[in-house]
Amino acid sequence: MAHFPSSFLDEVLSRTDIVELIAHHVQLKKSGNNFMGLCPFHHEKSPSFSVSADKQLFYCFGCGKGGGAFQFLMDHDGYSFPEVVEYLAEKAGLTVPQSAAPDADEQAKRKRALDLLDRVTEAFAKVLVAEEGLAGRDYFHRRKLPDDLIRKYRLGFAPPGYGFLARSMGRDERVLAQLEAVGLLFKGERGYADRFRGRVIFPIRDRRGQVVGFGGRILDQGEPKYLNSPETPFFHKSDLLYGFSEHRDEIRKRKLLLVVEGYMDVLALAAHDLPVGLAPLGTAIGERQVREILRLNDAPVFCFDGDRAGKQASWRALERMLPVLDAEHGPRFLYLPEGEDPDSLLQREGGAAFIQRIENEAKPVLKTWIDGLLNLAGRGPEGRARMAKKADAMLATMKDDYLRQAWRLEAENVTKLHLKDAVKPRKATPRRGIGGIAPDAKLREDFVAALVQNPARVQALPAGAEQFFLDDDGLNQLYTRVLHISADDKHPIQTLINAFPEDERIPRWATQAETTDDEFCGLLLAIEQENIKRRLRQGDLSTEEITRLKRREIEINRQRRG
Ligand code: UTP
Ligand code: MN
Repeated sequence: MAHFPSSFLDEVLSRTDIVELIAHHVQLKKSGNNFMGLCPFHHEKSPSFSVSADKQLFYCFGCGKGGGAFQFLMDHDGYSFPEVVEYLAEKAGLTVPQSAAPDADEQAKRKRALDLLDRVTEAFAKVLVAEEGLAGRDYFHRRKLPDDLIRKYRLGFAPPGYGFLARSMGRDERVLAQLEAVGLLFKGERGYADRFRGRVIFPIRDRRGQVVGFGGRILDQGEPKYLNSPETPFFHKSDLLYGFSEHRDEIRKRKLLLVVEGYMDVLALAAHDLPVGLAPLGTAIGERQVREILRLNDAPVFCFDGDRAGKQASWRALERMLPVLDAEHGPRFLYLPEGEDPDSLLQREGGAAFIQRIENEAKPVLKTWIDGLLNLAGRGPEGRARMAKKADAMLATMKDDYLRQAWRLEAENVTKLHLKDAVKPRKATPRRGIGGIAPDAKLREDFVAALVQNPARVQALPAGAEQFFLDDDGLNQLYTRVLHISADDKHPIQTLINAFPEDERIPRWATQAETTDDEFCGLLLAIEQENIKRRLRQGDLSTEEITRLKRREIEINRQRRG
């Protein structure tokens, strides 16, 4: 991981306006000191997503996501931390300092590879419109893809035979080695050979729209029908969805997302004014992809072929979905008539009929699950028992407690059997304080929140304050970090967020109503008292220490009364 000097991070942030940054993606309205809009991280009808210009933070009161500019881009666009820093630095006209060099090499290599992939995309696209590409052009036209769409998705053609890439990218040995590294060339008996030959080309982009790999379809008959780039450090099939960067905004705008099986289905949807399709890259849909899909839309429709393979694929998708699903999401499953896929149906019936079909036939996920179980288990008492067993196993993977109960009841109705109470172990409840008395979690949080809101208050803490939350793993680390914020840190909250990017409490505390100094004094006394009680119970103290603590306790009691 690159280590950026904190002064540099400060500089980047001071030249970045989070309101402007977020306004590119979310429609924001001024409301008091803040800006409000519809949260891009979960689905809602009324705005609970707030952006503070003063604090340069965002926070959603609906789903709890929050953070600064770095965090927003990481969550929203899937950037890594170093990538965000670099991106914003570049935008602000800053150069990343040399001290971040350990990774600079890596980054430079990545950038070179992405540049190369982009140039290859261009080369494939250029042949498609040249004489050499006639066969590819014909192919796309036969499949009813209009030219503007071919350009928009940067579709291309890899001519038959070897040598196209060497010809068009230059024969520089380093370039050829790079082309090999990104999977476009392989070493054959007579030197480098093109991976894609005689195929139409579908560039696959990552979340930011950068081409990271290709799919290629054979023109007529032949095996394999589709060939994809191999896995590389930037091309992880299970992390990508075809159409994601092209369709993300439209999916949000139309509140419609269709998950389909192939590239051609995604493109056929777009050609029928439904630029809302996403497809995995020839692999079964995985959990990360499902997560991404559910984050983008609360009721995505998964379209599958009506045949056996389609049923199996949908069952796998459903299984992947359970650990991610909650009651806020209502995905649906659509089975198409045997032998059809979205592309073929669209060609026959058009876009409106396809949407109508979804309205009429798409089954809610719960019904899909029950039907699938019935299918799997077979008839008779044994079948019902098998079904109950399978249901139990699947319920155990569900994350949402209430949804699991609801599903369990349905499965019990159908099997007429009692299912095990497949309750997942709850999240660790706050550990009871040493000595058996549970600490007051709210009090503790309020206290740390007051410090986070105004870290200068650390100066006001009494000696021994570093011992306050030794019994509280969840709070101690964060608290310790707060204690060590430097007095001249201009962005203390950002520093904390950078240190604990996963901790959603920090942005929440930073944006909630400010604790007044009076309130803070009260909280401090209460915390000090709690801490003294805990230490006295520990019993390994010297007599002087005990006397000191008891005296302080009396003092605190007096102050709290007065
Ligand atoms: P299909 O065989 O259903 O193809 O594969 P399709 O999308 O209908 O393609 P057309 O209409 O015949 O052109 C669905 C997806 O599975 C992957 C591809 O991603 C394809 O889009 N696939 C299929 C492969 O990766 N390799 C193959 O050999 C076949
Ligand atoms: Mn097809």
